[in-house]
Amino acid sequence: MTNDMKFTRKIVTIERFILEHQPDYARGDFTNLLYDIAMAAKMIANKTTRAGLADILGSVGNTNVQGEEQQRLDVYADKTIYRLVDHTNRVCVMASEEHEDILEIPPEFQKGRYVLVYDPLDGSSNIDVNISIGTIFGVFKCVDWARRGRVEDCLQAGNQLLAAGYVLYGSSTMLVYSTGQGVHGFTLDPHIGEFLLSHPNIRFPEPPQYYSVNHGNFSKWSGGTQDFVRWLHGGYGGDDPQLSERYIGSLVADFHRNLLRGGVFLYPGEENKPEGKIRLLYEAAPLAFLAQQAGGFASNGTENVMDITPQNLHQRTPIIVGNRWLVQKAEEFIRQT
Ligand code: AHG
Ligand code: MN
Ligand code: MN
Repeated sequence: MTNDMKFTRKIVTIERFILEHQPDYARGDFTNLLYDIAMAAKMIANKTTRAGLADILGSVGNTNVQGEEQQRLDVYADKTIYRLVDHTNRVCVMASEEHEDILEIPPEFQKGRYVLVYDPLDGSSNIDVNISIGTIFGVFKCVDWARRGRVEDCLQAGNQLLAAGYVLYGSSTMLVYSTGQGVHGFTLDPHIGEFLLSHPNIRFPEPPQYYSVNHGNFSKWSGGTQDFVRWLHGGYGGDDPQLSERYIGSLVADFHRNLLRGGVFLYPGEENKPEGKIRLLYEAAPLAFLAQQAGGFASNGTENVMDITPQNLHQRTPIIVGNRWLVQKAEEFIRQT
């Protein structure tokens, strides 16, 4: 090989990576579903980077099933993901934050074996102020092949996930995912339109640096949660880790920073809102799966988030997620009260 053909680092596209990590028995459907999601990510990224320019700013004027005002990008992201997947014969049903009921596969197309759950646009209140937002997804297998395509396929615990990931639309666009063999991050090169492997084998580093929580809700938390947060920043004494606080208000962005720098994100239950805010199926469970794959942990305060089976699509759960020992410390504080 001539000198100018030698690269100091091997360039790994997401396509090459997914193919090289596909198990021998895989039929290709699962691999292709991950490509579909990467494609959707590129299309959504293309819109988010122009959000301040195009006429897509502002809300559509209707509210979603959680009673929150939908932004136009939510609608675009939701439709893009659905339409890129609905006809592929890879998925039998989908569920999205933006729809009260399951999303069925149109009758003219075949139903596949996989189930896709997603939060198309996470952190949507940050769109209009040009702050990082994201997409979160999880993939299950249908529970009963003969009757595939029902809500039961979506109502599975996180410990049944085959894959999960998120896309972060930040200073660059990143896709971070796991199929149960570690967590890998890809950065979009906007000039060639390709995701390139930039963060192989991500693990929560030690020592952790940050904690992330909406302090404005402090007075609504239980005593145990308040004490845990005091402990995090050094106001409790003992073996406190004296972390700095960072809070964006976009779960994907807060989670991503803590994954790369070490730390903990929490959205606890509140006095009049014991389930907190974060949705179990398409927010908490996929991030819990990634955290576990990166050496971390996610708890609702008393139990592993991965072990909670949702009773309905939009069920909420308190969540504490990050470096394992920090999350276990939260459980300790919560148990004491
Ligand atoms: P979404 O935009 O998908 O509805 O999610 C918003 C969530 C999540 O991204 C973030 O962690 C949380 O809302 C922030 O809530 P607060 O504004 O109450 O802190
Ligand atoms: Mn969200
Ligand atoms: Mn959302």
